[in-house]
Amino acid sequence: MTERDRWASRIGLVLAMAGNAIGLGNFLRFPRLAAQYGGGAFLIPYLIALLLLGFPIMWVEWTMGRYGGQYGHSTSPGMFARLWRSPAAKYLGALGIALPLLFTVYYTYIESWTLAYACFSAGGRYMVATPAEARAEIPPAVPGFTAAEVRSMLGARGAGQDSPLSRAQWTGPDTAFTALDANVDGRLDTAELRPVLQPLAGAHTNQFLREYQGVGPPGEHRFFDSLAPALGFWLLTVALNTWIISRGIAGGVEKLAKVAMPLLFLFAVVLVVRVFTWGTPDPSQPDQSVWVGLNFIWQPNFAALADFNVWLAAAGQIFFTLSIGTGAIQCYASYLKPKDDCILTGLTTAATNEFAEVVLGATIAIPIAVATFGLANTQVIAGQGSFDLGFVALPIIFEQMPGGRLFGTLWFALLFFAGVTSSVALCQPLVAFLQETFHMSRRVAALVCGAAMIVLGLPIVLWLKTGYLDQYDFWVGTFGLVVFALIEVVLFAWMYGGENMWHELRRDAEMRVPRVYYYVIRYVVPLLLMVLLGGWCIQSLNDVVLLEGVPRENVPYIWLARATIVLVILAAGLLVLIARRRNRSWPV
Ligand code: ALA
Repeated sequence: MTERDRWASRIGLVLAMAGNAIGLGNFLRFPRLAAQYGGGAFLIPYLIALLLLGFPIMWVEWTMGRYGGQYGHSTSPGMFARLWRSPAAKYLGALGIALPLLFTVYYTYIESWTLAYACFSAGGRYMVATPAEARAEIPPAVPGFTAAEVRSMLGARGAGQDSPLSRAQWTGPDTAFTALDANVDGRLDTAELRPVLQPLAGAHTNQFLREYQGVGPPGEHRFFDSLAPALGFWLLTVALNTWIISRGIAGGVEKLAKVAMPLLFLFAVVLVVRVFTWGTPDPSQPDQSVWVGLNFIWQPNFAALADFNVWLAAAGQIFFTLSIGTGAIQCYASYLKPKDDCILTGLTTAATNEFAEVVLGATIAIPIAVATFGLANTQVIAGQGSFDLGFVALPIIFEQMPGGRLFGTLWFALLFFAGVTSSVALCQPLVAFLQETFHMSRRVAALVCGAAMIVLGLPIVLWLKTGYLDQYDFWVGTFGLVVFALIEVVLFAWMYGGENMWHELRRDAEMRVPRVYYYVIRYVVPLLLMVLLGGWCIQSLNDVVLLEGVPRENVPYIWLARATIVLVILAAGLLVLIARRRNRSWPV
């Protein structure tokens, strides 16, 4: 057997682990969740989730990885079998190979957009409108009312209605109705509501993104004739990931982190400075300034805390941003030396991630969007998802900004670096598993991983319009992470034994962990994870069982995506079975 990979330096390890965590989640997902769910108040459930779930699970994963690494296991089948002497353990561990692969499959596609957009920004590809034209594309919100208020004034009917809404069905003041009723027929139709509820719908950058993704209206080819550019950038991104992991931990991942992470922070700081100097771009509109945006993102709206969805969203973000529950942290931690510290180093990487998220991530996208589009529009844009904010709203701003090509390139390059340091980490469990149990060379294992990413990713690229990717994002990137975390915590804190877990966790630690975390890991974490799973089950019951709101033609694709996810998990279980048959002494 070949010598196991090791981290070459502590700084390399910290940067690679921080790179594993810092990703698109920090700069796209966090700001939009904070804007959507109560601004500063979102930080309360977020910080509680960080303390009660984020830190303890992160420590569990680091420790479990270091523990498994001592026995030559880089992935969870072997680690789980060491913790729980049951034949079932290694099959449960198959999730720790399937989930990161499935995660990286859709994550890498989004990552490839950031690479494409860095190039488009440098070349000014989407910059086709004058500032006046761009402004005309974004209609003002209803005077005097925020989009959220308009939404609530639509009453139970919501925004998705096809039939017009009459004045009698309107639950808000007459003045707002009159302001919206452009053709003064006493009824509101979709066309009248769209500017308020989808302020970016008419923007050329929206059309640019949709055409790039191949989801635009058929026949419109203003920017792209085909999906070829998207396919090209995606293949390039997969190839780059494959090449980096084929170079190994010290030779590939660590070297990447040492270059990409400092650049990422440099770009982020340049962008933050630019945001502050953007100030109030239009002096005639003092309400539209970065200060109003910063105030909005930090001003707590405590009423939001009564909504259970805010708590679910905050906990989900902690999982996503720290990359916990993916199987990637254990794998990286397995390359620690047996006496390396897990507690302080783990905390350092998590703190670096939080700085990148809460300080840098929150200071770029939302404040600059508020300064340009105003508060009401920004709220709606945030509600429409991370991509609208990052790929539609920000390009319009760069288009109007002096030096916009440079800042646009920096923004998307920042996202790309953040993405690639996370996606290579997510590829690593499969690669390590193939190396260790099937004795493949690193290059061959990396090629197998790259091929799997292409086969599984192609439907995501081709069928984006059908909601195929969203299925991955929910079942793998949200639900799956929590299921996996629950399994690993139960195995470590219960099957392996509470005191054993506590001893292993604190072994060679450079910082004392308060004893209260013993109880947090053993009792609070499993309980909270079950509440989260229950919450998501209830929340998505309609979607899963009734497929509510899903167009009929998309239903087969949604089931295909779900079937693929199940098949990949089963295939990982089969790989574990074959590995076991080939080597009776594995995994213990
Ligand atoms: N932790 C990675 C991110 O935040 C997956 O994007």
